[in-house]
Amino acid sequence: METTRVEARPVAERLVADEIAALVRRKPSAVLGLATGDTPTGVYRELVRMHREERVSFRGVHTFNLDEYCGLAPDHPETFRSWMQHHLFDHVDVRPEHTHLPDGRPREDDWAPPCKSYERAIEDLGGIDLLLLGIGRNGHIAFNEPGSARTTRTRRVELHPWTREDAVARFGTLARVPTHALTMGIATLLEARAIRVLAFGARKAPIVARTLATTPDMNWPASLLHGHPDVRLLVDREAWP
Ligand code: GLP
Repeated sequence: METTRVEARPVAERLVADEIAALVRRKPSAVLGLATGDTPTGVYRELVRMHREERVSFRGVHTFNLDEYCGLAPDHPETFRSWMQHHLFDHVDVRPEHTHLPDGRPREDDWAPPCKSYERAIEDLGGIDLLLLGIGRNGHIAFNEPGSARTTRTRRVELHPWTREDAVARFGTLARVPTHALTMGIATLLEARAIRVLAFGARKAPIVARTLATTPDMNWPASLLHGHPDVRLLVDREAWP
């Protein structure tokens, strides 16, 4: 995996935002895979700035988010949909109908149909051109928790205890953090033509070290990215092992 170490987080955020801007200028109908969480916030801030000041347009772009919590009502403030609206979609010219997230709204029956239609929608648009990823403390990518096989597709998963603990700050109490989510699978992620992984801060140093040192191993999902033809990990000084 190609790695880029930068002194400070904004440098990596700028590099990735520049790459996304170059892509959408070259291919106005580009398909982006997008992450939520603390990690990508600066990239989105930079894209919003570039849209306002440098006329970068997202008019023809399609976006697919990695994951969404299961069982939250659409107007719940902690859905990843709300998060994306707040950090990116409300501030650029992307068409609302071009922004896709897995449909995690409460449902009584089987979760397979919304998962299948998510995979089909990605395929129908020709696949993801550039995928933005963060890494969870336990090595998860999207919500592919340890034990996720390389062949997995979009599906419903149970969240790991660390993942839920990390979400308490947003939900207030552990009991309010959803227990399940819909996530793209490892196979879905690996089909993206380019993958950019970001990791910032000392909290991520152990998992960055583990990811770089481990040959593909489903107990450390980020290690499954090794061998992808165009994957780059960008880390700041604190996250560098
Ligand atoms: C979240 C998301 C991941 C994200 C990771 C790291 O729960 N599902 O896509 O990359 O965990 O989160 P953060 O960037 O807040 O450290």
